[in-house]
Amino acid sequence: MLTKAVYASTLLSALAVAAPAPQVPGYSDADFPVTVSAPTGAPASSFGPDSQINAVVTTPASAPPRRSSDVTGATSHGPFSGTPTTTGAEKAPTTIGTAIAPLPPNPTATYYNADGKLQNPAPIPYTPNGGLGTNGTEPRYMVNSDFDFESIALGLYQEWIELDLFNNGLAVFSEEDFLEAGLTAEDRSYIAFMAIQETGHATLLSNMLGEAAPPQCTYNYPYRTVREFIDFNQKLTRWGESGVWGFINHLDSREVGQLLSQSIATEARQQMSFRQMLGLHPMPVWFETGIPQSWAWSYLAPYISSCPENTTRLAWQNFPALHVVNQANPNRFSPNDTADYEVVGNRTADPARSDIPADESCVNLNTTGYACGPAIAHNRSEPLSFPGKQVNLTWDAPGQAVGPNNSYVTATSAGQPQFVAWVAQLNLTYTPLTITGENSGYTYQPASEVYEGDPAMNGTAFIAITDSDLFLTPFNLSMINPHVVALGLYQAG
Ligand SMILES: *[C@@H]1O[C@H](CO)[C@@H](O)[C@H](O)[C@H]1NC(C)=O
Ligand SMILES: *[C@@H]1O[C@H](CO)[C@@H](O)[C@H](O)[C@H]1NC(C)=O
Ligand SMILES: *[C@@H]1O[C@H](CO)[C@@H](O)[C@H](O)[C@H]1NC(C)=O
Ligand SMILES: *[C@@H]1O[C@H](CO)[C@@H](O)[C@H](O)[C@H]1NC(C)=O
Ligand SMILES: *[C@@H]1O[C@H](CO)[C@@H](O)[C@H](O)[C@H]1NC(C)=O
Ligand SMILES: *[C@@H]1O[C@H](CO)[C@@H](O)[C@H](O)[C@H]1NC(C)=O
Ligand SMILES: *[C@@H]1O[C@H](CO)[C@@H](O)[C@H](O)[C@H]1NC(C)=O
Ligand SMILES: *[C@@H]1O[C@H](CO)[C@@H](O)[C@H](O)[C@H]1NC(C)=O
Ligand SMILES: *[C@@H]1O[C@H](CO)[C@@H](O)[C@H](O)[C@H]1NC(C)=O
Ligand SMILES: *[C@@H]1O[C@H](CO)[C@@H](O)[C@H](O)[C@H]1NC(C)=O
Ligand SMILES: *[C@@H]1O[C@H](CO)[C@@H](O)[C@H](O)[C@H]1NC(C)=O
Repeated sequence: MLTKAVYASTLLSALAVAAPAPQVPGYSDADFPVTVSAPTGAPASSFGPDSQINAVVTTPASAPPRRSSDVTGATSHGPFSGTPTTTGAEKAPTTIGTAIAPLPPNPTATYYNADGKLQNPAPIPYTPNGGLGTNGTEPRYMVNSDFDFESIALGLYQEWIELDLFNNGLAVFSEEDFLEAGLTAEDRSYIAFMAIQETGHATLLSNMLGEAAPPQCTYNYPYRTVREFIDFNQKLTRWGESGVWGFINHLDSREVGQLLSQSIATEARQQMSFRQMLGLHPMPVWFETGIPQSWAWSYLAPYISSCPENTTRLAWQNFPALHVVNQANPNRFSPNDTADYEVVGNRTADPARSDIPADESCVNLNTTGYACGPAIAHNRSEPLSFPGKQVNLTWDAPGQAVGPNNSYVTATSAGQPQFVAWVAQLNLTYTPLTITGENSGYTYQPASEVYEGDPAMNGTAFIAITDSDLFLTPFNLSMINPHVVALGLYQAG
């Protein structure tokens, strides 16, 4: 910790003109005239009263009600032990086919602008032609199709668990537990604030759904320590965020997409903050990936134990779980030394075990390159995983009861497992799967790059076992679903 004397001398030394140093290799002519000199003197030791500035007394007008108070909802936690009253995903009155057939590009999607000049008459000054929802139509902030309804209902299930989850960790672990994980009272207040953000998100999504909006459920969490709580949060918010990126531009209602994007921007910040609390690089990628709704639902459902009577059910698929046998443990400074199944349980997003021997843990280290306590950013001298790493996999058979009241059933329509699909950033990369037994096999982490210099596979990413290597891109990724055998999460960095 800096003493006041050290701090003052640091300020003084800042006065000396910094010697020009090539801070960024290959980047020249960086200098421009800088005339400011750093202030000197001792830092403040007393605070206030401040200057009395011009102000009036004002109070907020009545704000719209929230659907939930800050901590309302679930009163119990743990697994469900009853009998489901209904079974299977929500079904449409009729289902027309089994897979979406590929079509040629939309014939009207031909706009191209080579000269940078406006090509069409502008409706009014300073307003280029085009856009959706720009012609004066009154916005309607309501879901506008079954697709919209089911997508936003899924999002609402996610917001509700986040509200309970963030509060739950604060409720079950002590101040000392948090301090041992390097998290202070200010950090706990921040997590509490994130929980309250969820009351707003849940209200927003409920309002866009209407009276059938699902309520909060009860949950069954996997963590046993603060580190595991944080790890679970960074995984859960990862698929929460990516689940939305996967469908937001497919929504019929642009108005719903508008508001949803303004809530998911907050969720993205939550995800990054939880990574930082786990001592991971905050965002070791250039792009955040999108996944299909059925993927988000497959990850989420195992952590919901029961929902109230008549809760609106979801139409999405629950895929069988895929287990990464040698999933790297972010609590280790030597991730290569992670033991098989070094996770707290069998559910796909279960956190890495934090109860490893003290001399193998990075949590309380201060050594650059090895420390993994909470920080804005850490370097890892030994990466969690790397291209070419052998990745051993096992996966569950379909037909298992999962989700609220054990009332959904895992299913797959895929044929023989042949590939591992890696979904990260803008990319879907397939690697061949070598089968080693019934529902087990291995592959090697791919080295594909999004653009030169950006290895696609990093951060908390998504993997699936598939029966084909169908070429897909971010906007048609959901066409992978009929080919998915099992679905997992991959902790790449
Ligand atoms: C205005 O745009 C919407 C789509 O954003 C479209 O549905 C509607 O037909 C348009 N209205 C007119 C009068 O062109
Ligand atoms: C992932 O990002 C971290 C942090 O930037 C980096 O150290 C690591 O090498 C990256 N992994 C890959 C496979 O590029
Ligand atoms: C789920 O189980 C709970 C507890 O047994 C029960 O109260 C609730 O009605 C069930 N929900 C559904 C949708 O069946
Ligand atoms: C559930 O729905 C049934 C049928 O509409 C209704 O009779 C019952 O009161 C509802 N239960 C709750 C708790 O809302
Ligand atoms: C982890 O394993 C890889 C592959 O065998 C190896 O190249 C790397 O050096 C190992 N890491 C350390 C720190 O030994
Ligand atoms: C995980 O699954 C395997 C195989 O399905 C089973 O043998 C094992 O008991 C399960 N472990 C836990 C902690 O549930
Ligand atoms: C790391 O730094 C913290 C805070 O300065 C200190 O409490 C802790 O003892 C240090 N740990 C080691 C292993 O040096
Ligand atoms: C952190 O890693 C980057 C490369 O990923 C390296 O250039 C830099 O020197 C490292 N910084 C420290 C303090 O180790
Ligand atoms: C992965 O599987 C291969 C082949 O079955 C085996 O040789 C290897 O030891 C396994 N590695 C781990 C880390 O379990
Ligand atoms: C990764 O995605 C980019 C952008 O869509 C694409 O240009 C590139 O070919 C993809 N790379 C691989 C290996 O799929
Ligand atoms: C998905 O979109 C890409 C264009 O981005 C196209 O080349 C590919 O054929 C599409 N896949 C399917 C299965 O339609």
